[in-house]
Amino acid sequence: MAFDRKKFKVLHNKRIAKDVYCLELLGDTRAIKCPGQFVNIEVASYYLRRPMSIADWKLGDETTGKLIIIYKVVGGGTAEMAKIAPGEFLDLLVPLGNGFDINVDTTHPLIVGGGVGTPPLIALAAQLIACGKIPQVVLGFQSEEDVFAVDTFQKMHPEVTVHVATVDGTLGTKGFVTHVMEHLTYDYIFACGPIPMLEAVVKMGGALPGQYSFEARMACGFGACMGCSQQTTTGYKRICKEGPVLWKEDLQWLI
Ligand SMILES: Cc1cc2nc3c(=O)[nH]c(=O)nc-3n(C[C@H](O)[C@H](O)[C@H](O)COP(=O)(O)OP(=O)(O)OC[C@H]3O[C@@H](n4cnc5c(N)ncnc54)[C@H](O)[C@@H]3O)c2cc1C
Ligand code: FES
Repeated sequence: MAFDRKKFKVLHNKRIAKDVYCLELLGDTRAIKCPGQFVNIEVASYYLRRPMSIADWKLGDETTGKLIIIYKVVGGGTAEMAKIAPGEFLDLLVPLGNGFDINVDTTHPLIVGGGVGTPPLIALAAQLIACGKIPQVVLGFQSEEDVFAVDTFQKMHPEVTVHVATVDGTLGTKGFVTHVMEHLTYDYIFACGPIPMLEAVVKMGGALPGQYSFEARMACGFGACMGCSQQTTTGYKRICKEGPVLWKEDLQWLI
């Protein structure tokens, strides 16, 4: 899939939870094809770009297109990003990766997000709803202060139910997303989050089909260096190019 190198103008860069920021950008989004794709952002004084999921976008050219990124400050690169001010321009490779396929057979999809694995699931939920597949959403965080995006999902459609699990029990169910999943009925799983969470979700889903997005460490971000290769049942796949979304049948190694 082709990608472009584009400049995007920063409209907002606002804190929305503990160490979590929402970056709204203006720029050409016409090449973005589906939820779950990501961008690679040039960050001042860092050689490697930082990959970030497309949380949502409005299709348009450089004067009308909007792009939303939600990121957590975990190290030097994301700490630099938190200092970016409105009016600045960012250099992005856009769009990267395969993204989610929403043209699947499901009437009761389940969306499962872990921490900053949640952002790509926002546009995914909106697109599922647009084609009449109303999802249930389960979001897992460490603590109440880390929680974000609950309202965003809830406002999408009156029938969307959003369940929160926090490890310390300060909001919602105490424990992990899988503790919530035990009580739900669903026929398809879309998930993004840390590998231990994905592993637990795949196991809990049993024979159910699903798509799982991986946030592996990356270098080039567009398939040239093999740095993000992950073993699957059909051989090694580059998470940046053949992923980040892998299908259930690729993931037997997790089970
Ligand atoms: C396809 C993809 C989509 C992503 N989408 C998002 C997103 O929407 N929001 C978001 O907050 N983050 C996202 N990430 C993770 C994000 O890219 C990293 O957190 C970021 O690059 C860290 O940069 P840093 O310089 O701040 O941290 P570093 O100084 O490079 O690292 C700080 C700490 O973060 C860990 N870390 C760094 N990169 C990753 C990674 N890729 N996965 C897991 N741990 C990592 C390191 O092991 C280290 O402990 C995504 C990653 C990928 C590959
Ligand atoms: S990061 Fe270079 S091939 Fe994936």
